[in-house]
Amino acid sequence: MIGKLNHVAIAVPDLSMAIKLYEGTLGAIVGEPQDEPNHGVTVVFINLPNTKIELLHPLGSNSPIEKFLEKNPAGGIHHVCYEVADIISAREKLISNGAHILGNGEPKIGAHGNPVLFLHPKDFNGCLIELEEIKGDH
Ligand code: CO
Repeated sequence: MIGKLNHVAIAVPDLSMAIKLYEGTLGAIVGEPQDEPNHGVTVVFINLPNTKIELLHPLGSNSPIEKFLEKNPAGGIHHVCYEVADIISAREKLISNGAHILGNGEPKIGAHGNPVLFLHPKDFNGCLIELEEIKGDH
C-alpha cells in the first residue's frame, strides 16, 4: 500500500541555525521557510536526489511541534511520510487493521498541497507516520 518515502520531518528549535547546518555544513539545497498556520508549523524543504527533508519549527500557540521540542530540546526526527495512491482507501484499510488516525480522521491539505493523514505512533513502533496522497506516481 505505501509507496515512496516522501520526506523525513525533523523538528528544530532554531530554524536559522538548522538552515545554516543543512546549507553550509551539509551542502544541501534548502528552500525558503513557509508558514503553515493550519498545521501550526513553519516548514523548510530540503530537496535531496531521492527524497526530501522537512525542517519543522513551531508556529503560533498550541503547535504540535512545541510539545515535541519540550521533550526533545535539541530537536529530533518528528515523522516520516510515505506516499499512497488513494488516501481514503488507505485509511479504511488501516482502520480495519486496528490503526488509529489522528485528529478527526479526515485528510487535511498538507504542505505540498496534497491530502495528508497522520497515524498514531503507538500503532507503529513509536514512529509518527504521515500518509500523503500522490496521484499518478505509482
Ligand atoms: Co510531513
